[in-house]
Amino acid sequence: MSGEGQRARHVAIIMDGNGRWAKRKHLPRAMGHQRGVEAVRELVRSLESTGLECLTLYAFSSENWKRPDDEVDDLMNLMRKFIKSDLPEFIANNVRLKILGNWKGLAPDIVAMLEDALEQTSKGTRTLAVALNYGSQQEIVRAAKAAIDLGEITVDTLEMHLDTADMPPLDLLIRTSGEVRLSNFLLWQAAYAEMLFVDTLWPDFTPAHLEQALENFANRERRYGGR
Ligand code: FPP
Repeated sequence: MSGEGQRARHVAIIMDGNGRWAKRKHLPRAMGHQRGVEAVRELVRSLESTGLECLTLYAFSSENWKRPDDEVDDLMNLMRKFIKSDLPEFIANNVRLKILGNWKGLAPDIVAMLEDALEQTSKGTRTLAVALNYGSQQEIVRAAKAAIDLGEITVDTLEMHLDTADMPPLDLLIRTSGEVRLSNFLLWQAAYAEMLFVDTLWPDFTPAHLEQALENFANRERRYGGR
């Protein structure tokens, strides 16, 4: 748990640096992604002890399709393996899986696996949200269209139709690997979020790094435009 100060409810992470991690170790890129999944697994295992209600991870963006086919295949296969191997653990640890983005556009077998996993974890008390085939601009456009259908676009009606509608407000957005940009991730939700950019490459990011980030957050003063 973070000590004094405000406690974060919802943290999101842009998991960056798998490729550079592999390159530094003279390993194939795929190995970087594989170790990236290990980092995800350890973080999910630590979810209960963080006190977070919700952890959101950017796993595959709508722009990631531009990567070479074999890398896209590697990432999709890792997703299949991860859901299959870790679903029992999610259920045992009360983790509720949630998927953000246009995930119904993924391969039919992955969609079926995810639907099953969503159903089986629906009673979980802490949320792991995975952004898959996700783009924030596309999400906002989808939400705006849905809001218009109901009559009017306001901050509230648009927000009601975002993929994150049933989640707590985003408190802290972390990006690993030293890059300082949002890459079409949670643009709306980040309106008042604190940001933390760390140099650690994603495969090296541990629950201790998350704990440190939560402590950092606890000591920040948020003013939401006031003073
Ligand atoms: C960025 O590293 C990472 C990604 C594009 C994908 C993140 C995916 C994972 C951690 C694995 C899959 C996740 C789950 C939940 C199964 P990069 O390749 O852009 O690294 P680089 O910038 O160093 O090249």
